[in-house]
Amino acid sequence: MDNDLMIETRGLTKAFGDLVAVNGLDLRVRKGRIHGFVGPNGAGKTTTMKMLIGSIRGTAGEAFVNGHPAGSVEARRSLGYSPERPSFYWDMTAWDYLVYMSRLSGMGQAAAEKRTKELLVWLDLGRFYNARVGGFSAGMKQRLSLAQAMAHQPQLLILDEPTANLDPDGRMSLMEKLLQLRREQSLTIFISSHILPELEQLVDAVTLIEKGRTVAEDSVETLEQEVTLDRYLLKTTNNEAILAALQGEPCIQGIHLDEKGFIHLRSSDLAALQKRVIDAVVRSDVLIEHFGREQASLQDIYLRTMGKER
Ligand SMILES: Nc1ncnc2c1ncn2[C@@H]1O[C@H](COP(=O)(O)OP(=O)(O)OP(=O)(O)O)[C@@H](O)[C@H]1O
Ligand SMILES: [Mg+2]
Repeated sequence: MDNDLMIETRGLTKAFGDLVAVNGLDLRVRKGRIHGFVGPNGAGKTTTMKMLIGSIRGTAGEAFVNGHPAGSVEARRSLGYSPERPSFYWDMTAWDYLVYMSRLSGMGQAAAEKRTKELLVWLDLGRFYNARVGGFSAGMKQRLSLAQAMAHQPQLLILDEPTANLDPDGRMSLMEKLLQLRREQSLTIFISSHILPELEQLVDAVTLIEKGRTVAEDSVETLEQEVTLDRYLLKTTNNEAILAALQGEPCIQGIHLDEKGFIHLRSSDLAALQKRVIDAVVRSDVLIEHFGREQASLQDIYLRTMGKER
């Protein structure tokens, strides 16, 4: 057991009849990090999270939270969970709901009230403490769901697509809160999202899954470097001519022109690529406006690992 890990799974598997939703997953989430969990619809993210919180049991493998078997009292105490589609007691006020959820997590009445006040203020919901949850906007509901996850001051937050349905302002403010939690309280946050440019700003490390299996897991920088290694951007005064001239070169594994006027090149042999590009430029009598490595994004990593790159 590695003491630096907040979440560790080994061969974690969940089958629903014939359908294997999670297939031998080995997850390693380090303490104090924000760790992204990314994959297409149906990849098994929510199912994995449900096994980690202990609401469903795996059919094979092991899962540990903060060193304790997932589902045990100690593991549950360590974590707070905000589900994909939060459901509330719609008739309750935000105040009553949070006090109730805090009491459920084992707090006394006075402590629950103190914590509720703290959380409502911190999440900018203080003015709405007496309003019914049913009338809340999507952003307010999401913040309330985060508040209930945090009621008992867990060391780990498991957040299933917390920014889906939020407008850009709502996303920004939620992201700032999460960064603040890591910075000031060293909380570990395990977060799934489909909004990759946003996740990229937030996470230290990321796990990509597809069909219940890990396809990549590392720090974002390392993954980006791996993707960047063989990728180049070229812009010339006549891209069409250069594109035609470079088409079919053996040292180029991929080439396409984007709508911003950049030629994207993939090559594992930079020296050969440079020579071919210069030959083509001279022959076609055009000028190079830009030639350099392409800066990869999390989106590029995703497309590449999911085998959808061009
Ligand atoms: N209770 C269930 N019974 C049967 N199949 C299920 C059940 N829950 C999930 N599945 C299936 O397991 C697979 C993984 O689903 P899961 O909800 O974990 O995916 P996800 O990665 O969270 O997807 P999304 O991005 O759409 O939220 C899907 O094929 C889904 O249909
Ligand atoms: Mg899901």
